[in-house]
Amino acid sequence: MIIKEGLGFDDVLLVPKRFRLKSRKEIDISTYLTKEIRLSIPIVSSPMSNVTEAKMAIAMAREGGIGIIHRFMSIEEQVEQVKWVKRAENIIIENPYTITKDKTVKDAILIMKKLNVSGLLVEENGKLIGIITKRDVLFADENDKVEDVMTKKEDLIYAKYPITIEEAKEIIKKHKIEKLPLVDENGFIKGLITAKDLLKLERYPNATKDKKGRLMVGAAIGLKDWYERSLKLIEAGVDVLCIDVAHGHMDWVIETIRNMRKEFGDKIQIIAGNVATKEGTKDLIDAGVDAIRVGIGSGSICTTRIVTGAGVPQITAITDCAEVARKEEIPIIADGGIKSSGDIVKALAAGASTVMLGYLLAGTEESPGISIMRNGKKYKLYKGMASALANIERKIREKGEKVEEFIDYTPEGIETIVPYKGTVHEIITQLVGGIRSGFSYCGASNIKELWENAEFIKVRSIKEGLPKELFFI
Ligand code: IMP
Repeated sequence: MIIKEGLGFDDVLLVPKRFRLKSRKEIDISTYLTKEIRLSIPIVSSPMSNVTEAKMAIAMAREGGIGIIHRFMSIEEQVEQVKWVKRAENIIIENPYTITKDKTVKDAILIMKKLNVSGLLVEENGKLIGIITKRDVLFADENDKVEDVMTKKEDLIYAKYPITIEEAKEIIKKHKIEKLPLVDENGFIKGLITAKDLLKLERYPNATKDKKGRLMVGAAIGLKDWYERSLKLIEAGVDVLCIDVAHGHMDWVIETIRNMRKEFGDKIQIIAGNVATKEGTKDLIDAGVDAIRVGIGSGSICTTRIVTGAGVPQITAITDCAEVARKEEIPIIADGGIKSSGDIVKALAAGASTVMLGYLLAGTEESPGISIMRNGKKYKLYKGMASALANIERKIREKGEKVEEFIDYTPEGIETIVPYKGTVHEIITQLVGGIRSGFSYCGASNIKELWENAEFIKVRSIKEGLPKELFFI
């Protein structure tokens, strides 16, 4: 038997190389999540119940990465989460709130207050006839009719639908207006664009957006209900599905990928995993995936290597999988064990296109889950998806069972707490700074150059693969 050597993040460092740019800001760290989805930053949040729900996915997409909503909820709940992300930066409000001209100013004030908006379009049989805003009602008599105080269509700036964001911005800037109603050629209301939403666009110039200008989002699926779940998620507008299986080099996974391709064609991007070998990568690529998730036993909350003896240290796993995937132009997602921006650079340098984070994002404001205080410090709960606690929660949710004993399940993950870390924006800003710097040390101005230039040097360490902190709650 030939025993190959395996290396993890702590076993290697990157050898510094000559850098030709003047500033790290000039480095392009954009990359591909899948064959088709481009990201401004190489970071993905993991589909775990203490990492990614809508809030995290919104924050990640705004930063230029992406979030994969976890699957440990009902199909309906997961669909709602996806829709929430899709609505978050919807520049064109497709069904703006309206009022009719015969209503009173008092009615308009009440509706605006209730819906928390600063104006209403005035309609007659679906057609735009004016707009009434908070300013119009400031000094009006409560019993005045809407039509007496509204800005009438002939004095109103509106635009034809469809319209590009640039065109809308131009009109709003030129006329210094806050709201731009959109109508079709017959005058029917088709939407509304607000200056406030356009400003948001400028605040997040690197956001990951779909063709309609909405934030992109992924969702995890399992094998048992893949068809129904995928169908509903695709209907809700999800951009990428992730077949989320701990041991992804399995006939059932391969069959599911094939069936998904047959059923949905190119309508959806598919990530599958997890694998850690060339063979695993090849089999999933042959079945038709758009990205491979790599990592067996490397997660910070993972005990797979202890419980089963199986795993491949992450640098070796990424290098092996990337060797096969590069030929087919399928991106690798390095998943698990990343503790710092340095590990991110190492994962990318080894051949990954993106990294998937659990631990580094679990303590943020946007991660779902309980916050607790311990010795005057704030922490958030972080549990492995194969931990006892995660599975007890699943049993209670799915079967409504009271769980008094849970001894027939062998966990491959732990439950822990991680220090509260502030917002996703703050963490990502730090990580991105470190990644840029790491690229510069490798003499790389983009990810392709990183792959070409990177040279690892072996150092001695045994840290990777051990759970970080063992706090029991
Ligand atoms: P982290 O970033 O090191 O915390 O690793 C997160 C990754 O660990 C996830 O994306 C999963 O691939 C993996 N993972 C999540 N839960 C478990 C578990 O219970 N056991 C083993 N691996 C897990």
